[in-house]
Amino acid sequence: MDLLTAAKEVREHAYAPYSNFKVGAAIRSKSGAVYTGCNVENVAYPEGTCAEAGAIAAMIAAGDTEITEALVIADSPLPVSPCGGCRQKLAEFGSSDVRVTMTTLAGKTEVLTMAQLLPGAFTQEHMEGN
Ligand code: THU
Repeated sequence: MDLLTAAKEVREHAYAPYSNFKVGAAIRSKSGAVYTGCNVENVAYPEGTCAEAGAIAAMIAAGDTEITEALVIADSPLPVSPCGGCRQKLAEFGSSDVRVTMTTLAGKTEVLTMAQLLPGAFTQEHMEGN
């Protein structure tokens, strides 16, 4: 399945009554499987989770661990940009050359690599020796 269709579909299930900003994310893993997630908000606002986090959780739950591409979509004027926390979460499972497509329902699209999204990422290398 293509990531755009998958992300659009899952976005419909987003639970975003507080922001009214529905986000869908789809990631492909090395096995070729596609995993999706949407944002899930909470009345205790900080407890909400992002679409990317949901897609990553689905991938890990299925036994996959390596992201080869990702796509995020929202009904926004500009392509939706993964938040800082989600950049770090994506970097845990996607190498620096993984392409992340950010797009809008209207089709405005931007593609950046993980290295561009999170330059100087904190990685396991920084913990070597521990
Ligand atoms: N959100 C995501 O799910 N992913 C992003 O990349 C940006 C922001 C969600 C979090 C919150 O539910 C809503 O969008 C507004 O910030």
